[in-house]
Amino acid sequence: MDGRLDVARVRGLFPALADGFVHTEGIAGALVPESVARAVGQAMRMPIADRGGVFPASGRAEAVISAARAALADLVGGVPGGVVLGPSRTAVTWTVARALARTWEPGDEIVVSRLDHDANIRPWVELAARTGVLVRWAEVDIETGELPVWQFDELVTGRTRLVAVTAASSAVGTCPDVGAITARAHAVGALAFVDASHLAVHARVDRVALGADFLALSVSALCGPHVGAVVAEPALLAELQPERLLPTPDRVPDRFESAGVGVELLAGVPAAVEHLASLRPDADGSRRDRLAASLAAVAAYERPLFEWLREALGAMRHVQLLGDPVRSIPVLSFTVARMRPRQVAAELSRRGICAWDGDASARELFDALGATDDGGAVQLGLLHYNTADEVGYVIDSVASLRSR
Ligand SMILES: Cc1ncc(COP(=O)(O)O)c(C=O)c1O
Repeated sequence: MDGRLDVARVRGLFPALADGFVHTEGIAGALVPESVARAVGQAMRMPIADRGGVFPASGRAEAVISAARAALADLVGGVPGGVVLGPSRTAVTWTVARALARTWEPGDEIVVSRLDHDANIRPWVELAARTGVLVRWAEVDIETGELPVWQFDELVTGRTRLVAVTAASSAVGTCPDVGAITARAHAVGALAFVDASHLAVHARVDRVALGADFLALSVSALCGPHVGAVVAEPALLAELQPERLLPTPDRVPDRFESAGVGVELLAGVPAAVEHLASLRPDADGSRRDRLAASLAAVAAYERPLFEWLREALGAMRHVQLLGDPVRSIPVLSFTVARMRPRQVAAELSRRGICAWDGDASARELFDALGATDDGGAVQLGLLHYNTADEVGYVIDSVASLRSR
């Protein structure tokens, strides 16, 4: 191995690839390797009871939960005691958001971005309305798909309590300059809530370097089970009082987990992180070191494939790409002349290609683009199991839509 990703080996890890489709629908949930499926299956075959008992089946649940926290802490550079787990990323965000909103007062302000998935918008907007807090909107440059940093100079004021922003758009791929945005939040004492759901499968994420007081993850976007998490400093979590059932332990992070999480699914979380860490099997060192080496190989593998896809689609006269961000994950949105996005996705599906269509839950963005009523756009995303042959086939297939 010379530091490159061995995609043939990687594909062998994914039983789901046997269906013969080209899986470019990663934004709607990445495929799961056998190791993750096996870990979940094993947990379901073992005696596992609720945590808190004195018998082995209960201790097993405790061990599974601790291992899931440790894995996600390694993934983003946190500590296990700061990893709040939940049934989905959206669910954990609501829990943390409700706890934060208890500290807001009428006249306070928050900043949300129109680039984000609605999971990092609606909880804040709803709670702001209930608490008399003013919502300020960071706008997307419609031509480029960028989220300009300069606007935060005006949006963030002495009254700002929170800035919520994505680290990578799952609709148009944009990776905003999160560090510069969170620095502006911190300069006025506001907190930053960063959605890294889609970045963490393409690049090594460092929560502290991003300046994310809260960093949200969707494990289903990381080749894992449908589980969500928010990672923060335990001391910050300790300042918050979430809604909590009385029997839920009052310690951090457990006090945020009254809703519970399927322990059997959590068993798949360390397996998903280990999958990412071992994409370069020759990498050594700690799990975080191996993640850094493997995700560097992933980025080096995905980048030229994505540039090829982007340039080829961009050169087609019947195709319109949405945005052209300078830094992006390998995800794009496009439309085809005289075809609705759903029709395009159906044609691609007929050719054996899984493509998402609609607004990718970035409703504010598509409203701003004026594209919601037209059915949004078609989204394609590459992951480390996609091949050059597949990209070539996708390009040919989109090209063939011209002559319909
Ligand atoms: C960027 C982004 N954030 C949040 C979510 C929501 O994640 P979950 O389904 O775990 O709530 C998604 C889901 O696709 C997403 O793409």
